[in-house]
Amino acid sequence: MNEIKTIIKPNIKQQECINTIDGPVMVLAGPGTGKTFTIIQRVKHMLNQKITPASILCLTYSEAAANEMKSRLVKEIGTIAASVCVHTYHAFCNELIKQYPNEFELLDGVSPADEITKRSIMKLALEEANPQEYRTKWGDAYYFIPEHLKSIDEIKSNQVTKEEYFNTLNTHPLWQGKMQELEAEYIEREQKGKLVKTFLNSYDSHKRKINKAKELWEIYEKYDIKLKQNNYIDFNDMINMVLEAFDSNEEFLTKVSSQFKYFLVDEYQDTNYSQNKIVFKLAEGAKSRNIFVVGDDDQIIYEFQGAKTDTLEKFLTLFPDTKVICLNENNRSTQNILDFSYDIISQDKSRLEFNPNFSQFNISKVLTAKNEKIKPLNSKIQIHGFADIKQENNFIVKNIEDLIKSDRLPLNDEKEKDLSKIAILTRDNQELQNFASLLEAKNIRYQLKASKSIFDIKSSLVLYFYLKALVNHEFYGDKLFGLLLSEPFAFTNADYSFLLEQNRLNHKDLITNIKENLETHKWDNKKKVKKFINTFNALLGLRSSLNTKDLIIEVINRTGILEYFLQTEVNRSENIYAIKKITDEAQAYMYTNRGSWLNDFLDHLDLAFESNIPITIEKEDYTQNAVQLVTLHGSKGREFEFVYIPNLIARKWENKNVNNKMSLPIDKSDKKIDEEAAKYSEQLRLLFVGVTRTKHSLTLTYSNSIDGKPQELTSYLSLPVDNENIAETYNHTMQNEEFLFELAQSIKKVSFDYASAFNDEIKARIKNFIISPSSLNQYLACPRQFLYSTVLNIPILDKDTASAHYGSAIHRTLQWAVQHAKENDRYPDYNLLEEAFIKNLNLEKFENQTVRDEYKERGIKSLKQYYKQLLETPFDRIFATEYSFDYVPFDNKFLKGFIDRIEKNSDGTVELYDYKTGSAKSKSQIADGKDYENYLNQLRFYKYAFEEQNPDTKVARAGLIFIEEPHANFYINLTEADNEIIKGKIGYVYENIQNLNFEPPREEERKCEFCDYRHLCKLNEL
Ligand SMILES: Nc1ncnc2c1ncn2[C@@H]1O[C@H](COP(=O)(O)OP(=O)(O)OP(=O)(O)O)[C@@H](O)[C@H]1O
Ligand code: SF4
Ligand SMILES: [Mg+2]
Repeated sequence: MNEIKTIIKPNIKQQECINTIDGPVMVLAGPGTGKTFTIIQRVKHMLNQKITPASILCLTYSEAAANEMKSRLVKEIGTIAASVCVHTYHAFCNELIKQYPNEFELLDGVSPADEITKRSIMKLALEEANPQEYRTKWGDAYYFIPEHLKSIDEIKSNQVTKEEYFNTLNTHPLWQGKMQELEAEYIEREQKGKLVKTFLNSYDSHKRKINKAKELWEIYEKYDIKLKQNNYIDFNDMINMVLEAFDSNEEFLTKVSSQFKYFLVDEYQDTNYSQNKIVFKLAEGAKSRNIFVVGDDDQIIYEFQGAKTDTLEKFLTLFPDTKVICLNENNRSTQNILDFSYDIISQDKSRLEFNPNFSQFNISKVLTAKNEKIKPLNSKIQIHGFADIKQENNFIVKNIEDLIKSDRLPLNDEKEKDLSKIAILTRDNQELQNFASLLEAKNIRYQLKASKSIFDIKSSLVLYFYLKALVNHEFYGDKLFGLLLSEPFAFTNADYSFLLEQNRLNHKDLITNIKENLETHKWDNKKKVKKFINTFNALLGLRSSLNTKDLIIEVINRTGILEYFLQTEVNRSENIYAIKKITDEAQAYMYTNRGSWLNDFLDHLDLAFESNIPITIEKEDYTQNAVQLVTLHGSKGREFEFVYIPNLIARKWENKNVNNKMSLPIDKSDKKIDEEAAKYSEQLRLLFVGVTRTKHSLTLTYSNSIDGKPQELTSYLSLPVDNENIAETYNHTMQNEEFLFELAQSIKKVSFDYASAFNDEIKARIKNFIISPSSLNQYLACPRQFLYSTVLNIPILDKDTASAHYGSAIHRTLQWAVQHAKENDRYPDYNLLEEAFIKNLNLEKFENQTVRDEYKERGIKSLKQYYKQLLETPFDRIFATEYSFDYVPFDNKFLKGFIDRIEKNSDGTVELYDYKTGSAKSKSQIADGKDYENYLNQLRFYKYAFEEQNPDTKVARAGLIFIEEPHANFYINLTEADNEIIKGKIGYVYENIQNLNFEPPREEERKCEFCDYRHLCKLNEL
């Protein structure tokens, strides 16, 4: 096996962390000291000590960080590490809810609410709550929707009860306490005749603040009821549900905690109140208290999401015997970067390092550069001041351009210049968008990981306006009209002008005017106009027979919108994703608003569009070979060689507005906070995080003027900048000619190479791709279909999601039966099984009750038959159900999959089974070169992956269990030869997708008539 073994040796302190497996340990150390590295090495050490991988739980802060950790673990340690549980808090709780459905009172078809759903539900809540204080001057209550949702997140993630909330409101010195003071002062002033305006203003404003807080609780309660009524939960609910289950059911807590014996948490400083409670509960339940957290109090940057400075302190209080280890050797940066950043952060006097209460832990955060490869690159930090922000931005882009041309930029594994070593870090997304266009003008590839609204993307806008016209062309046809000149409709100028003129004369909409003049007017391109109106009419005809999502799929296919954006090079993937986002959104909306039509869905989109609510395409979690444009918050945990931080002006950085701090009566902190000082620390920490992402080259910039207003460098940098040994300052005066030249350069659009940017993106996406039996089979059947479906994610008509939901209810029911048998030493009675099935079916989404009932009947009939067969299988033979694997190494790649049932034979060999709902296939069909070869591939894939993961166990037999026709089950004895066959196929697919080979199969081998992409697939090059 081709494992990449670590060649980096832990240092002495890191080794101490690695060796201390038992009891509570906190690693408190600055950036780049190897905290994440140590977690991985510690897990490695634990596995070497024969600790069961499944008893180790690692919690991380993001999906991307969890994937990264898992793949690093497997690459460093080997297959065994694939069974270590690595999760985000949400994913962990979501897993528990799925794994133990009986512990949670879940409603029928409940699903997580996304941003737009939350907002429409908030709208309903506001209609009912009818708030008085939360209104704008002109009476608009909806204006506060985003603010309310943020407040509710804060209430939920702090698990604030009504009692606590009102208790703080009625007793806290900043709330009712302050009100009483103000009232006393009022009386005093009144007596003295000194009721001045400034006093009256602050009196009124505090009174309003209190009333608003009361109103907010009412809004929250109404919102939460509506959320539940509409079958939604949000992410915070998931965590809170698990916490409640832990609190109310000790047995459940013990069951979960005894599953794990070791807990490891990365970026511990950023866990919020309820996430932290999950950690504490698990440690409490496990009694072993083998809990290892790593964090850095100087890197708390998510305070607004509930991560509080006292998280680390709480840990130390709860576990007073915690071993605190500080790491002082930095392996990321040069000494200059470290000294410079220490000068920034040490201005914050509230840090743990300076806090006398923690002196017993000997916290020391001064860092020494230890990376021998980086040391020689030590150079001074550059601070550039400019006359104007345009000049500033141009300088950065020009600097990056020169850097790319030079040989200072290292190469990546493919021996190409690695642009991802360069990053521009900013405070907000808008600044990144500016840099994106400037880089594009110079044909420099970039990756902007921030999400983008579908209302800012061309394809989804065209689709949105088309759908609006379909709903009512008389009212909503104008926007579509505006798009007629461009692709995919591309009316000629003459035809367009004619329609415009007609509209001016008769005020009728475009569809009506086309219809009325179709045969009488002499069109310039009649074919085009005719096609347009025929398509429109055909789609109108489908409106009442198709569900919203399928209607949208018909629209994108029949109008040519999808085909056009798939073939246009400019921002191709973004356009495809935006279309996909609308179909996903429609699907989600349909399920939760049963019986809704296209117009209802569009109302829902309108709300988002009008109130600027972001419906965004997903953030990418892979890194492309492109300049990285990242917000400072998003840069957490990452590292780059060349970092640029622009716009370091006081106005942007030194925001003293603290009014928002305790805007809600939530007081979970044990400390009293000086709000202004807290804000100051928070901003210093954000700057510190940004600066410490750098390995060796750091360029900081600011401008002396923005829009004619004078600006200055933030005072946070005054101290480090003055140190001439580590920083050098440049002041660029406005040199007209040079500046104009630069500006002209940036405006002169070098045409951006979209095609190669698209290829690069596909390459980067494929780099992280992990093959499963179904994706293997899909590629083997048609590589082009694999591209459409798995790589580009192009949506298709819902043919049979109902049967997939039915299948998953059957699977879960059978899994439950086995689990029940193992726990109670006997299989459950049939009626209990049927009950479980109905419950599971209710958790699935169906279009309507009739469909659900049909599947209920079908399921009961099948289970009745199949259960007799299952009862004949002694449950102690069944070694695992729903066995999932996701990081089984294969060369330098991985395999993933999911085995429904594993049985153990007395000779130690095992048998692997997959449940199939639907009609049985015969032995002659499930064979090489036959129609159901894919089933055989699937079984071989399982055998190979299982044996790789469990080298001491052989798979003797595999099979397919046809739940609905159990007499026709398929069994096969697989051998070493089957492993070779499947290895060959997997290797072939991996190699081809890496080479971006998506050629369709030879004509005689194509099965296009059943393909969902047949309308799109022109069989020509993409
Ligand atoms: N003992 C070591 N010898 C050499 N390199 C090391 C050692 N420990 C860690 N590194 C390297 O140092 C870099 C920083 O490590 P890592 O990302 O784990 O730091 P961190 O403390 O988690 O940083 P952050 O606070 O930014 O999350 C990585 O490239 C890592 O591989
Ligand atoms: S239409 Fe045929 S060639 Fe094109 S993707 Fe589908 S199966 Fe492949
Ligand atoms: Mg880290």
